[in-house]
Amino acid sequence: MDFADVLRRRQMARSYTDEPVSDEALTRILKVVRRAPSAGFSQGHRLVVVTDPKLRQQAGDIAEGRYVEMGFPPWISTAPVHIYLCTREQSYHDRYGVAEPVRPGYTEIPWPVPFWWFDCGALFMLLHLAALNEQLATGYFSSVYTDELEALGQVVGLPDDLFLAGVITIGHGDESRPLPVPDNVVPRMSNDEIIEWRV
Ligand SMILES: Cc1cc2nc3c(=O)[nH]c(=O)nc-3n(C[C@H](O)[C@H](O)[C@H](O)COP(=O)(O)O)c2cc1C
Repeated sequence: MDFADVLRRRQMARSYTDEPVSDEALTRILKVVRRAPSAGFSQGHRLVVVTDPKLRQQAGDIAEGRYVEMGFPPWISTAPVHIYLCTREQSYHDRYGVAEPVRPGYTEIPWPVPFWWFDCGALFMLLHLAALNEQLATGYFSSVYTDELEALGQVVGLPDDLFLAGVITIGHGDESRPLPVPDNVVPRMSNDEIIEWRV
């Protein structure tokens, strides 16, 4: 697909048909992992890919009740593919801790920007666009509640050194039914509100 078309189609999907995602498409989407940037080339991002219906349902049980109450279909459990987007923070400490090992008194930087989360966002966008390029739809579920994220992590048995950023849902978007527009949706800001120039 033309890149401008991919960008035009970019939005989060909260409704999927029951058509499966082909193995070939999923393999192509996952290939972008090796194209992902990472701070200091720390490569701390980690993914868990779930197609098992039982595990998808368990994730839905944790997360989707409030959407169904709003009138959405059960979009988390019905998305045929879940990608658990994780980061291994220790990879960044390891990488930057040894960056200048010979300087006396070297202490690790205070991390004004936690690069591990930044890199997760960058990888998310690559996967999102790669899925759109396959004519698929993508959503994202995360939570401001630690216990919800921990419960999701337990669904896939995340090892202790990984932190879960959220779950990417991928499937064929179902545009056959109108979806609710929640009351608290704010209008999209204009470029002028977001971008400042210094010329
Ligand atoms: C870090 C992050 C967390 C998000 N968490 C959720 C979520 O838990 N549930 C959800 O439905 N959408 C979630 N979204 C999607 C946003 O709601 C969505 O990007 C925003 O409303 C703009 O819509 P659009 O991406 O379709 O243009 C999340 C997006 C980001 C970047």
